[in-house]
Amino acid sequence: AASLFAPGPLAGRRVLITAGPTREYLDPVRFISNPSTGKMGLALAEAARALGARVTVVLGPVGPVDRQGYEVVDVVSAEDMAREVFARVEDVDLFIASAAVSDWKPETRSEHKVKKSEGPEALTLVRTTDVLAEASRKVAGRARRPALVGFAAETQRVVEYARGKLERKGLDVIVANDVSAPGAGFGTETNQVTVLTRDGQERTLSGTKLEVARALLRSFLAYLPAAER
Ligand code: CTP
Ligand code: CA
Repeated sequence: AASLFAPGPLAGRRVLITAGPTREYLDPVRFISNPSTGKMGLALAEAARALGARVTVVLGPVGPVDRQGYEVVDVVSAEDMAREVFARVEDVDLFIASAAVSDWKPETRSEHKVKKSEGPEALTLVRTTDVLAEASRKVAGRARRPALVGFAAETQRVVEYARGKLERKGLDVIVANDVSAPGAGFGTETNQVTVLTRDGQERTLSGTKLEVARALLRSFLAYLPAAER
């Protein structure tokens, strides 16, 4: 019989989640970023905790958020996020990359505020580390590797582009998000997503971010490594 105290399906499991935006500073007062609020990632953290997991969130700058029930590692830049993830990803059962990581950063960062009279007319950008792709390479081929989940923010050809990312990054699941659809994407309370798995399944989920998070986690269970005993 079901007990109130029955262990959840993630009992004893460790879950690592990236969430929020990153900031790539060009000088002490200016940065490149995006409007991510981290809500989807924090909803996943809350839902994973409720299913019994020990959860760590590597969180970009999002302002005050509820930190009850899971560990939060605060980071600023993509490179900070990469370092904190690489230090942990080999020890978890599930890695979910929900962060909106900046793809580019300024090539150089001025120590002092750049004056407008001397400011650059053009900004040279270089690519950041792909946290998810590199984390995936790090655990590839391990006898026991975490289930790997990515998100794909798209505004067109959503499923096609998302499946390409799943394959290129060696993922088990990718959650495709049409960020131009009403009631989806950055800063909204609700979300509508399409879940694509490496074995070709495709399923659409919608609801509040917490409802979507709960349903998503259940769809990741099949890809967890065998439980350690
Ligand atoms: N991601 C990451 N590190 C980056 C860029 C992306 O970890 N530097 C992760 C995101 O957290 C997400 C997945 O990769 O889980 C896909 O991110 P997305 O921005 O949709 O795709 P990109 O691979 O960056 O490609 P593009 O932005 O050109 O569509
Ligand atoms: Ca990107």
